[in-house]
Formats: sequence, C-alpha cells, structure tokens
Amino acid sequence: MSEPLVQIENAVKRFKTPAKGILSVLDGLSIAFAKGEFVCLLGPSGCGKSTLLNAIAGQERLDAGEIRIGGTTKPIAGESLRVAMVWQSDSLLPWKTAQANVEFSLLVSGIKGNQRQQRALKWLQAVGLQGFEAYYPAQLSEGMRQRVSLAAALSIEPDLLLMDEPFGALDVYTKLQIEKEVVRLWEAMDATIIMVTHDVQEAVALADRVIMLTARPTTVAFETRIDLPRPRDLDRIYGDPRFHTKVSELWQALTNPG
Ligand SMILES: Nc1ncnc2c1ncn2[C@@H]1O[C@H](COP(=O)(O)OP(=O)(O)OP(=O)(O)O)[C@@H](O)[C@H]1O
Ligand SMILES: [Mg+2]
Repeated sequence: MSEPLVQIENAVKRFKTPAKGILSVLDGLSIAFAKGEFVCLLGPSGCGKSTLLNAIAGQERLDAGEIRIGGTTKPIAGESLRVAMVWQSDSLLPWKTAQANVEFSLLVSGIKGNQRQQRALKWLQAVGLQGFEAYYPAQLSEGMRQRVSLAAALSIEPDLLLMDEPFGALDVYTKLQIEKEVVRLWEAMDATIIMVTHDVQEAVALADRVIMLTARPTTVAFETRIDLPRPRDLDRIYGDPRFHTKVSELWQALTNPG
C-alpha cells in the first residue's frame, strides 16, 4: 500500500449507556486507508461504523489509540487537508436553496465569497441538478436532496470524503444514477473515499477494497481487494461475471465466517 492517508491505530471507544453500563464499541481497532483509495465498510448494525466515521471526521473523541490523517493527529478543521462528509439522510439546511446549501458548505470551508457562487453552480451541474439551484430541499425528491448533499461535499474538493450509508434510503434506479456520478467524479479527482454501506453489491461495484467489520466491539473480520477494472462503467459492471464472482465470494465469507 502507498503511504496511508488515514491511519487508525488501536482505537478504543466506549459509551456510557443508561441500561447496559459501559458499551465497548471500538476496542483496539487498527485500519489504514491509502491515499486515493475508495474503501467500503460493511458490518452488522450497531457495530460502530458511524462511530468510526465520526471519529475520523474529528466529531467523536477516542478513549485511547489514535487516528492520523495525512500523518498528523491534529484536529482537521483549518488544516490544509479538506474533509467532507455525506450522511445517510438529509443534512441540508431546509431554509436554504440547493445553491445556498452548497455555497454554505464552501463558506464553512473558507472558500472566498466571489468563488462560492461559481463553484456551487459547477457542482450542482456535475451531480445533474442544473435548473434546480433555486429549489428548497422540501421541493426536491429524496434522491435530489442526496445529490445536493453530494454536491456540497464534493464542491470543497475534499482530500478525504466520508460517506455514511449515503444512498441507503434511495430506490434502486436513483441509487444507480447517483453511484454512477460518484464513481465518475471520484475517478476524475484525487480523493480518498471511506464509505459505509449495508449493500454488498454496491460495495463491490464501487470500491477498490471492501472491509467487513465484526459485531461490537468491532474489529476487521476480513477484507478483500476488488480488482475490477477502472474506470468502472456501472452499467456494465453489474452484468460482468467477475463482479458476480466477487459478490458471491463476499457472501460466502459473510455466511461462513472463519
Ligand atoms: N452517543 C452515544 N451514546 C451512547 N451510545 C452510543 C452513542 N453513539 C453510539 N452509541 C452506541 O454505539 C454502538 C455503535 O453505534 P453506531 O452508530 O456506530 O453503529 P453503526 O455500526 O453505525 O450501526 P448502523 O449500521 O445501524 O448505522 C451502538 O450500540 C449505539 O447504541
Ligand atoms: Mg450507522
């Protein structure tokens, strides 16, 4: 692996819970993510995937261990390295238009005023939302709202893009359309993507590497490299025998652990 962009070492995270006392979510988890890699994380519900992403994003503090991004453990905000996040469901500001939502993301990232309008337009267009700039989130479909979230994340031209089940709530057709955009845009960028998904097929179609996590406290159950060719044409990949072989290998590993 080339030099890791994100290095998680012996991460420990526990939560105090009302019913179960101390809940151990991460107990010495170590994973490295190479620069420019697209990695999908799979794992049972409640195992700690969102906790892990939040810790990488600097929004959750570890109890022990460390997460180094670009070789440093300093908080990410204000650093030269740009990190963006896309959540499972709407994280848009309902009182702002699509354009204003993307511009807000640029503002928070410190992009100068005169550049924000142009960049927001460019990225809304890139995700297929030209003509919807002035729409409010409530006037858009769920798939369109996820596209706005994606435009907001991509507009800051992130070095690291963290996505927590970003397409989980979408219907199959909309999901495929957005997945295609993500792959196309990512292949043209230099970003590292860490994406949580419940969908084995989606993981194989998109990622360079799939990491399967265990139940809590979560560790790496196994990982597999997806050596399907790039650039990936998702219209073709879902019909490619190599894709189906990889998906069934993963299902095998999932259903017959060890
Ligand atoms: N702030 C918190 N306080 C207490 N417990 C928490 C907190 N955040 C998460 N947890 C617990 O930590 C565990 C892991 O949660 P997390 O959201 O990381 O799971 P997940 O793998 O993302 O699950 P899912 O696939 O359902 O989204 C869960 O048992 C959850 O109840
Ligand atoms: Mg989660």
